[in-house]
Amino acid sequence: MRKKGGPTSPRRRSAGGPSSRRIGDPEAEPHSNAAGQRTADPSIRRSVDPPIRPTVDFLRQRLATLEPRVAIVLGSGLGGLADSVTDAQRIPYRDIPGFPEATVAGHAGLLVAGGIEGMPVLLQSGRFHLYEGHEPATVALPVRVFAELGIRTLIVTNAAGGLRPTFRVPTLMLIADHINLLWRNPLLGTVVAGEQRFPDMSEPYDRELRAIARRVALSDGIVLEEGVYAGLLGPSYETPAEIRMLMRLGADSVGMSTVPETITARARGMRVLGISSITNLAAGLSARALSHAEVMQASELLAGQLQRLVRGVVRQLG
Ligand code: HPA
Repeated sequence: MRKKGGPTSPRRRSAGGPSSRRIGDPEAEPHSNAAGQRTADPSIRRSVDPPIRPTVDFLRQRLATLEPRVAIVLGSGLGGLADSVTDAQRIPYRDIPGFPEATVAGHAGLLVAGGIEGMPVLLQSGRFHLYEGHEPATVALPVRVFAELGIRTLIVTNAAGGLRPTFRVPTLMLIADHINLLWRNPLLGTVVAGEQRFPDMSEPYDRELRAIARRVALSDGIVLEEGVYAGLLGPSYETPAEIRMLMRLGADSVGMSTVPETITARARGMRVLGISSITNLAAGLSARALSHAEVMQASELLAGQLQRLVRGVVRQLG
């Protein structure tokens, strides 16, 4: 457990030391993936490395000696956490090879590297959604790059609609599990080096991280629900009939993101913590029509709590 008042600047890599070895570098680790497992066919690496490699190389250079250990994906309106990063280095997507620009209001389009609670982190402020027309591989790209940079823990946040009748919105919800209704999977196609063909998804959201999040919420007086997130393609919000269907399927929240990132992270053996900001009651559960502006507003209302929760979790990881 990390003590309060510990180092405030993020840990940095010593140049040329053993920890500066590139994870997944074919020269350093022939035929083994980021998890240290042997891959069946080294030619697979060559066939898929090019789209990821320039991004990884660029970021390694920009991060210099910083070695982030945790990546945090910020959902709609949750960009505030990025402002509190110490020794922050802000890298606009337009400068990053392979990254498209973020197009959704409330998504900044920045990678922010630096420290949170003394932990070296990389924040993705602005994610890519399938509904923007991006390929699943583009949506998965940041996570693949995080893994190649040696990051083993991914925290994903999102805004979502609430389905469980007892939710008092707005509220935070720990994602215990998800249902992929995007009808897409970022792992389709050739196996990417460092990933498994058939990753186990029996615990997509890490049990230990969830326990930490619950403990932090309890000690900080943050209401934290827990439930199943349904990921839909969007961009139209759901119909009331679809929401009734999702309730029958066992979903507690619904949104248009997160699932591709989690699947990719699990294929890399990364552990994932997912937190939804439940910004609204889902369609048909209240008399109000849904709007992105309202989602953003509610998400900003929850931002303080979410930041405290994420900070608290990161502190425990130290
Ligand atoms: N549905 C889908 N995505 C969302 C919602 C919703 O009700 N609220 C915020 N993101």
